[in-house]
Amino acid sequence: MSDIAIIGGTGLGAIEGFSIERKEEVETPWGSPSAPLCHGELRIESDAPGSGYGIIFLARHGDPHAIPPHRINYRANLHALHSRGVRRIIAVTAVGGIRADIEEGGIVIPDQIIDYTWGRGHSFFDGESDPNSMHADFTHPYCLDLRADLLAAARRAGLEVVDGGTYAATQGPRLETAAEVDRIERDGGDIVGMTGMPEAALAREIGIAYANCSVIANRAAGRGSKDLSMESILVHIESGMVTVRRLIEAFFADERKRQKAPDQ
Ligand code: HPA
Repeated sequence: MSDIAIIGGTGLGAIEGFSIERKEEVETPWGSPSAPLCHGELRIESDAPGSGYGIIFLARHGDPHAIPPHRINYRANLHALHSRGVRRIIAVTAVGGIRADIEEGGIVIPDQIIDYTWGRGHSFFDGESDPNSMHADFTHPYCLDLRADLLAAARRAGLEVVDGGTYAATQGPRLETAAEVDRIERDGGDIVGMTGMPEAALAREIGIAYANCSVIANRAAGRGSKDLSMESILVHIESGMVTVRRLIEAFFADERKRQKAPDQ
């Protein structure tokens, strides 16, 4: 078993090529995670049969997909994964695209966050806490090394992904107004989603390297000519997830090489 988990969002409730060996119900001091942790093997095409990569998969919105973004127990999710030895997380999220060059079905690996969420359990330091440990450095909210590994994997696999961008986390579950998106854009937001926070901050607090891979489900409110129907959102998520799956496969193929030659 590796130290890597994938948290899947809307459209990634399961991963093709991932065979589940065991589903584990976990209880944490923060309550129950969204779903049982799925321990299993991710098969990489270049692998010999039966030599997949051991990972944990967690369905952020539950299985079946039913938990809205503001009701997800992010603390329980992160705590459960950490308690099972996870030290790196690739988080997949669906977002709306604000920046003009970010197209539906495309992939962004963001490098910054602005948090507009509220009322979510956003910290593990929730009672009396040590002032020396409670103020986590969040200057770079995503792990620089894990981001770089994802981007390198995308390059090697010839996948087009946008390197960098600011993820604006909104409360949901409704989509934004056009004026809200205008404001987010003025603030510097490039993509907008509902589940990026507090997940990233909790990962930092608990000591898990965390990177985000965002699929553009739609042009954000007021940015596209089409209406924001769930139907068309799901179509774009589905096409983006094909790229995500190829990216994950390329990442793990590289990971295998890194393990074989740890000093290079
Ligand atoms: N806004 C917020 N979250 C989203 C969107 C959006 O436009 N699309 C998919 N998730």
